[in-house]
Amino acid sequence: MAKLTRLDDIVSLCKRRGFIYQSSDIYGGLASCYDYGPLGVELKRNVRNAWWKAVVQMRDDVLGLDCSILMHPMVWKASGHADKFADLVTLCKKCNTRTRVDHLADGEQTGAQEHTEHIDIDIAAGQQHDLSGKKCPACGAVGQFSKPMAFRLMFETQMGANVDDTMTLFLRPETAQGIFVNFRNVLDSARVKVPFGIAQIGKSFRNEVTTKAFIFRTREFEQAELEFFCKPGTDEDWYAHWKQQRFDWYLNLGIRKDNLRFRDHDPDELAHYAKACVDVEYKFPFGSGDWQELEGIANRTDYDLRQHQRGMRTMNDWFEQKGDLSKIALKDEDDNYIKGPLAYFEEQTRDRYVPYVIEPSAGVDRSTLAFLVDAYDEEEVKGEMRNVLRFHPHLAPIKAAVFPLVKKDGLPEIAMNLYNGLKGHFNCFYDEKGAVGRRYRRQDEAGTPFCLTIDGQTKEDNTVTVRDRDSMAQSRIPLDQVKNFLREKLDL
Ligand code: GLY
Repeated sequence: MAKLTRLDDIVSLCKRRGFIYQSSDIYGGLASCYDYGPLGVELKRNVRNAWWKAVVQMRDDVLGLDCSILMHPMVWKASGHADKFADLVTLCKKCNTRTRVDHLADGEQTGAQEHTEHIDIDIAAGQQHDLSGKKCPACGAVGQFSKPMAFRLMFETQMGANVDDTMTLFLRPETAQGIFVNFRNVLDSARVKVPFGIAQIGKSFRNEVTTKAFIFRTREFEQAELEFFCKPGTDEDWYAHWKQQRFDWYLNLGIRKDNLRFRDHDPDELAHYAKACVDVEYKFPFGSGDWQELEGIANRTDYDLRQHQRGMRTMNDWFEQKGDLSKIALKDEDDNYIKGPLAYFEEQTRDRYVPYVIEPSAGVDRSTLAFLVDAYDEEEVKGEMRNVLRFHPHLAPIKAAVFPLVKKDGLPEIAMNLYNGLKGHFNCFYDEKGAVGRRYRRQDEAGTPFCLTIDGQTKEDNTVTVRDRDSMAQSRIPLDQVKNFLREKLDL
């Protein structure tokens, strides 16, 4: 099976066929920002929908949520992001390039170390590192670095127009916190019992020091996150459960097993909130193979809910001074702060505890790209090369294309009728331009599972030719059976 072997090939395919473009392309592009074109937007939406179906719709123990990107500054203080979510960077005195300290290679090494996403640091503390033997990845100078400093990864923005009430806010660096701060709301409104999960898909923002090639590491990105709340002591079982569920999700959507693996985080790599974390990695086909994280599955313990209880307590002191306690509901039904307002009361056992959290956190953009490169294939057909994207039918941007064989003899009218009857059920495409062989090839390259061709025989017996993308086999089915045929084959 032939593969895209260079990043340039992938970027070029994505642009040529309208999957992904550089942002602000006509103005020279904005680094690390990308736009999804007509095929890409469908593919990405299908990836999101497949995640939502598996994680929310098919589960009786998971509910959905959609939170605002801008949140109260206390959220980030309590979560630890305001004080710890930073990279340690240094400035090369020769070329003025800022590099992450953990990405610096030793003087004699050739490549930079770019394995880790980032390592939390204490922003307020002084930073001690010996960089005398390290090499600048931009200019090659050895040991010419400034004292390392913390570089905060959250983007800041201002809310409000008036000087008096304007507020500095952060764009969220993860969707997870919106879930934690709504834990009580969901618990009180949705009549759920622990164990249960809350899922969300949405944009997050990180002002990364080093962005990575194409859409692997971008400053604006989309996450699909599940926070699964469970009783302390059951967390390791749920961790194993979600690890398997999430790995299987990629396999069930067609990713080849050889290209997927788990990688456990080393203890010094764990985020400030995590007891354990494993990445699901995909082997992107560049050079000799470049394993990259698609998704992290973390055991966040009760860290976040406890931190938010502390945060609420701080706010309470503030409200107490202001004499306005009514604005924040702090106490549980026993007026008890010890377990805190975000504790869960288990009726059966009369236990009160702060739940532990297992978090599968997937990158929607990275997964979309992995599905794209994994589906790509080149093969020789009758002496000509054919490019084909063998997408799982659930992910294919276009499910069926409808063609009249020729643009005359009433065939376009029949084809248009068929297309109009199908488009309310499936994303379809109508094409009557050029030789039918070329039309098939264009759909192969878009990953369309079926092409339906109306020809002279259709007028005689009301049948249509169905051509299968993968085998290229053709068969005839009655026109009035096409919808059912597609439903069954596409499993939609
Ligand atoms: N919520 C985990 C992460 O954003 O990495």
